[in-house]
Amino acid sequence: MNKLLIICTVFLTVAAASVISSCSDNRSTGLEFARNMYDPIAYNPDQANKNFKDGKTAQTPPAGTMPVGFDKIDAYPNTPEGYQSAGASLSNPLPVSVKTLEEGKSLYLTMCSHCHGLEGKGDGSIVKLGKFPAPPSYGTGNSSRGGLMKDLTDGKIYHTITYGVNLMGSHKSQLSPAQRWKIVMYVHELQKLQ
Ligand code: HEC
Repeated sequence: MNKLLIICTVFLTVAAASVISSCSDNRSTGLEFARNMYDPIAYNPDQANKNFKDGKTAQTPPAGTMPVGFDKIDAYPNTPEGYQSAGASLSNPLPVSVKTLEEGKSLYLTMCSHCHGLEGKGDGSIVKLGKFPAPPSYGTGNSSRGGLMKDLTDGKIYHTITYGVNLMGSHKSQLSPAQRWKIVMYVHELQKLQ
């Protein structure tokens, strides 16, 4: 009987203590087990950190760093100025190779040739149907934005594929940056054809 009384008293004391302690601070989460399940071992980005000179955990990335999935064209808006500055400063990051050119050709045939034609002369299948005005030839035509089609630079072609121009729609969501650059490379081949 005495034992039962002791057990009951201990139990009630513990229960009362935990109820009272959890009520004392209404922002408290109460008793926490296994703290390290709540607090990560790694530093939080906004935490002080004595391993770095400036004492911060979040460090500025080195110059020239690009976030994963970043498309350089995002720095050039869909405006005449964006087109001109992309034309002047964007260049193809992919090295020219037979394999890349072949991939560019295959993408061009799928995504562009029905308007621009197999050889880029502006005589694609939908143009031949008489339902769509012919785009200017890459080799001999004039760009509606000034200059010759054969002089279009990497950046101007990439900007055009990304945002489109007049009747030509944007291809940003259909083609990844690498695919667009491969097509740019192949368009340069077509610009050589007269
Ligand atoms: C729906 C038909 C169509 C498709 C598909 C299309 N284009 Fe065009 N493209 C046009 C037309 C029309 C123009 C002329 C627009 C203008 O200047 O008014 C044009 C213009 C261009 C220009 C010239 C831009 C300039 O600055 O003058 C380039 C380069 C170009 N297209 C590349 C491509 C590439 C590469 C693809 C495939 C990814 C493609 N186009 C897909 C219709 C199309």
